[in-house]
Amino acid sequence: MFHRVLTIVGLTILAVLYSARADEKPMMKAVVAHEYGAPEVLKFEEVPRPEPNEDEALVRVIASSVNPADPFTLSGKYAREFGTHLPLIPGYDIAGVVEKTGANVTKLKVGDAVYGYPTFGGGWADYVTVKESEVAAKPKSLNFVKSAAVPMGALTAWQALIDVAKLQPGQTVLIHGGSGGVGSFAIQIAKARGARVIATASAANQDLLKQLGADVAVDYTKTKFEDVAKDVDAVLDPVGKETLARSYGVVKKGGIVMSLVARPDPVELKKREIHGAGISVHPDAEDLAEIAQLIDAGKIKPTVTQVLPLSEAIAAQQQAATHHTRGKVVLRIADEPKS
Ligand SMILES: NC(=O)c1ccc[n+]([C@@H]2O[C@H](COP(=O)([O-])OP(=O)(O)OC[C@H]3O[C@@H](n4cnc5c(N)ncnc54)[C@H](OP(=O)(O)O)[C@@H]3O)[C@@H](O)[C@H]2O)c1
Repeated sequence: MFHRVLTIVGLTILAVLYSARADEKPMMKAVVAHEYGAPEVLKFEEVPRPEPNEDEALVRVIASSVNPADPFTLSGKYAREFGTHLPLIPGYDIAGVVEKTGANVTKLKVGDAVYGYPTFGGGWADYVTVKESEVAAKPKSLNFVKSAAVPMGALTAWQALIDVAKLQPGQTVLIHGGSGGVGSFAIQIAKARGARVIATASAANQDLLKQLGADVAVDYTKTKFEDVAKDVDAVLDPVGKETLARSYGVVKKGGIVMSLVARPDPVELKKREIHGAGISVHPDAEDLAEIAQLIDAGKIKPTVTQVLPLSEAIAAQQQAATHHTRGKVVLRIADEPKS
């Protein structure tokens, strides 16, 4: 009798423990901000794994990368425009493997290797949820670390040069900040389009501008770009202020000035009979697929200058805030899966 009571009590305890575990949410490692502020507010901690809704897929993140947009988002100044809320996991670039799909997801399948740009970030974690419109098959010729260096930078360059400027073979484009996350893709995309490229960067990055295919490399610390670039068809400006103000004068009538950081001045545009656009990048699965094709065709490649573990995301974000990154800094989150 006593033994039976003991057995029943034991089984009951086991059942309670088991059901408690079953209720526990799966956890993951992530870099999280519980308040807006400087990169120092970020914490590396365990948080509940997100669950995809019916229109989303859950992606196991192998690598993410660092963008100047991360410190902007983290500052909280643009929370309304960016649609961000706390707690916040940064990370607009991801490469990873689809782990789970929602009921309405039709194109993505469990096990797919994807890369992309989740609209609200979240990539600095073991898992992130994405919509089908935010990711595409990752370039076959790149590993996950290199694929994670592509989405936001390449999409921005693509949407400016191809969608907005409609760059044509034989046209000339001036690309400021050609050594940065956006500029390094912009040079290659413009060259792949058959355009002539004049690119600017500091002395330390002149070699990179040439490697990326720039026809003319300008060291903005020594040479005024206006002395080299005249009557160009398009300008891509990721710098703003004085650089943007001096750019209107180098564009031919009917040409275009595109800025990533400001709205071009309508008075200058009218006076010079040129067009202007403030670029706002958006996730786009079709653009990502076209970019992957160009990468696999050997026409463009990411410039990865540093690969850091996720635990060093704070230092990476401090670096992004300087606006002097060479190529891309990638965060490795998991080992490359064996194919
Ligand atoms: N609107 C959008 O949708 C959008 C999308 C993406 C990025 N952005 C913004 O665009 C900017 C650039 O992004 P990114 O990822 O390319 O940044 P990044 O990786 O930090 O690169 C910035 C580059 O600009 C160069 N640079 C700095 N000052 C310069 C100057 N006066 N003249 C010419 N080049 C200069 C730097 O080269 P040196 O070190 O050689 O000076 C660096 O390579 C950021 O402010 C970012 O927030 C906007």
